[in-house]
Amino acid sequence: MACLDSFESDLEVCIIGASGGIGGAFLKAFNDESKVKKIYAFSRNNIDITSNKILTYRIDIEDEDSVIKASELISTKKSIDIIIVATGILHNLNISPEKNISQTKSDSIKKVFSINAVGPLLIAKYFIPLLNPKRKSIFAVLSARVGSIKDNRLGGWTSYRTSKAALNMLLKNISIEVKRKIPKCIISILHPGTVNSELSKPYQKNVPEGSLFEADYAARKLIKVIDNLNEDDSGLFYAWDGKLIDY
Ligand SMILES: NC(=O)c1ccc[n+]([C@@H]2O[C@H](COP(=O)([O-])OP(=O)(O)OC[C@H]3O[C@@H](n4cnc5c(N)ncnc54)[C@H](OP(=O)(O)O)[C@@H]3O)[C@@H](O)[C@H]2O)c1
Repeated sequence: MACLDSFESDLEVCIIGASGGIGGAFLKAFNDESKVKKIYAFSRNNIDITSNKILTYRIDIEDEDSVIKASELISTKKSIDIIIVATGILHNLNISPEKNISQTKSDSIKKVFSINAVGPLLIAKYFIPLLNPKRKSIFAVLSARVGSIKDNRLGGWTSYRTSKAALNMLLKNISIEVKRKIPKCIISILHPGTVNSELSKPYQKNVPEGSLFEADYAARKLIKVIDNLNEDDSGLFYAWDGKLIDY
């Protein structure tokens, strides 16, 4: 069971990227939570969970019209309490994380930035106005510790790292504006840990024993983090264990 003690009841939750490993785990965790009344699940591909709480919609976060249409489907009133953005890319058939600068390609870095940084910005643009201004609300985006400039000791993974660093700055920027307009809204940047999913699958062999989480565990830990956040935490970067990460 998740833990949403700091929230009121009859919660409405939006998950963008509900077809992913961690997004799907958030969907299951919120579906099991009695305080959650409705879940709007957005994804590019179909999701396989059905529940009378869950409404599913299509979204392509690289396409602004698709993001606008998705937001309009739920924009009848400002009633959303929690938005989780669980989209992201590390690799696909044409893109692999770079080991050095000579492997970087303009098309790849643009694609990775488009999904990891610009996509969440578009979601923020059209979905944050749907949050309920009268009570605690959350706009949380999955980033990654490797996007921390301070923490970068290994180099490599240029497109992914830099897109997540850009994402972190975008969210920090948004948090300053949102604090003035919707003071009860908390903008949250989250690191889920290393999680067993399609995204991490090719890179799991060097993960120390005990450090590869199942997505259900990561989602439950992150819900606990979100539950503990207050307005002063807006724009900050937290890990799955509730510890602050330096940008
Ligand atoms: N797994 C890890 O170890 C780890 C570690 C640190 C941070 N993270 C971050 O956590 C987030 C989720 O990762 P994951 O492990 O759950 O990866 P995943 O299983 O590969 O899920 C990625 C999700 O992003 C969606 N997506 C990609 N491009 C999209 C687009 N243009 N429009 C709409 N949806 C799009 C995918 O949708 P479709 O499936 O429908 O294409 C999928 O739902 C990512 O931001 C990742 O960087 C993960």
